[in-house]
Amino acid sequence: MFVHVGNSRLELVQGDITAQAIDAIVNAANARLAGGGGVDGAIHRAAGPDLLSETGRLYPQGCATGSAVATTAGRLTAKHVFHAVGPVWRGGGVGEPELLAGVHRCCLRLALEHDCCGIAFPAISTGVYGYPKDLAAETALGATRAFLRTTPAPLLVRFVLFDSGTFGAFARVLESLLD
Ligand code: APR
Repeated sequence: MFVHVGNSRLELVQGDITAQAIDAIVNAANARLAGGGGVDGAIHRAAGPDLLSETGRLYPQGCATGSAVATTAGRLTAKHVFHAVGPVWRGGGVGEPELLAGVHRCCLRLALEHDCCGIAFPAISTGVYGYPKDLAAETALGATRAFLRTTPAPLLVRFVLFDSGTFGAFARVLESLLD
């Protein structure tokens, strides 16, 4: 499923982000950039141990929630990994939507700075961090669409959703944005 936004393409696929042939892959990391389970564990396993050592060397202070930092991608076919720290869901009243939107904008800016043609996002914050999938989809796709509307450089933005429930949530939101 895809739409065109400005000069860019925004698409949804169901699958494993580590298998994507695309310039940049976004990792749903924690603020210590310490590795973890979920998509973080999958990316580090696929990239190999150099990814964690590079991350620790370049960013010993970690990364603030709502922001992202870039490394190379080890054994992945991607060129870059953007380690993005989404918010923990605490009910929605402590700035979670702004932080989630901010982390998507930050990754999109990193993609342009690194001359990427394409970037793949997982559903940041919707696993261990507990963000409701439908609300995360609204914020992630809304922020991405707003960014692409004002970006002249053509970019492929692919959301790689791991399971059918997450894919369905994102697909419903993308359809509603088209109305
Ligand atoms: N490809 C794409 N998506 C995946 C993959 C994969 N290989 N593996 C898991 N996912 C999905 C999950 O199903 C979920 O929808 O990624 C989404 C985000 O889930 P988490 O990985 O749990 O990320 P998040 O909720 O942002 O929590 C981050 O979890 O692993 C730790 O170190 C990480 O502390 C951090 C926290």
